[in-house]
Amino acid sequence: MFRVYAIIGGMKVLGIETSCDETAAAVVEDGTRILSNQIASQVEIHARYGGIVPEVASRQHVLAIIPILQQAMAKAGVTWGDIDGIAVTNGPGLAGSLLVGLNVAKAIALAHGLPVTGVNHLEAHIYANWLGSSTPGFPLVCLIVSGGHSDLVLMKGHGDYVVLGRTRDDAAGEAFDKAARILGLGYPGGPAIERAARNGTVSIQLPRAWLKGCDDFSFSGVKTALLRLVEGKKVLLSANQGSGLSAWDAAASFQEAVIDVLVTKTVAVAREHRVKQILLAGGVAANELLRRRLAENSPIPVMVPEPVLCTDNATMVAACGYFRFQLGKVNGLDLDVVPSLKMT
Ligand code: KG4
Ligand code: ZN
Repeated sequence: MFRVYAIIGGMKVLGIETSCDETAAAVVEDGTRILSNQIASQVEIHARYGGIVPEVASRQHVLAIIPILQQAMAKAGVTWGDIDGIAVTNGPGLAGSLLVGLNVAKAIALAHGLPVTGVNHLEAHIYANWLGSSTPGFPLVCLIVSGGHSDLVLMKGHGDYVVLGRTRDDAAGEAFDKAARILGLGYPGGPAIERAARNGTVSIQLPRAWLKGCDDFSFSGVKTALLRLVEGKKVLLSANQGSGLSAWDAAASFQEAVIDVLVTKTVAVAREHRVKQILLAGGVAANELLRRRLAENSPIPVMVPEPVLCTDNATMVAACGYFRFQLGKVNGLDLDVVPSLKMT
């Protein structure tokens, strides 16, 4: 039932991403050239609740997915006859959200006789690095820092992943989100902490979990240390609270502690494995200080996607899908969502 697709160039993949709170569709050519990148963000809706409400997220995806797909096709200037394959995130993520994207992808595949490949959201984040002006070289180490993960991944080729380290508790993005809530800075926390930190100074040494001898991370300690400072009224959350650190200084100190650990451990792992390249990926990779610090402290060349491609989008799904198609990884219409999908 599937059309034969060319592997020789000009392959256009439609990417679909609905794993969390962004409804996104994009068309990418040969895994590297962005023809369109449409994203409907639900951030303002979830900000009212201080975090993502899964039921609300899936309902919003249902409302947004068809217009976003139509926009992605129109912006790319393509019709269904120009599309060679569909890449869709099937995990990890929220089950109800993933189901919306996956079912739309399967319906399109059936209607237009197109092949589908299911993409791991974390692998997709890595592939945002193929959408810039230069191509990453293997072997490489990628630090994926998002709302749900802080993983150090060794890649020796396309589709060849070894997870060397992961977080034992809070992910880096989750820690940023919780710290912002503690400091009353709003949601999403990463950009809020980054903005606040620009007005403050690193005036307190918050604890770093080095976990010597292993490549894992832990961010719950630094978050709890911040909470204790606020509970002990050592951080000034409002102007009439007396003397103490400003919330800006606390944000700067928190950001410094998290980035110090991320950069130091990533460079150490990359040196140990003698890789040619370090990649940064995931929502936290949009953080300006993290991008700068990693570049300044690494003897190995560092690549980071444009900030807009670090947070959730569908170009990265299409890029990852392209390389999966090249490896012959096509799924049947029995493809299902896997909310706790692991990288293999
Ligand atoms: O990759 P992503 O968009 O979604 C997930 O797959 O989780 O990452 C979202 C996470 C959130 O925790 C958000 O606070 C964080 O990335 N983030 C940032 C920044 N922008 C987004 N963290 C630090 N600095 C930023 N500029
Ligand atoms: Zn993500």
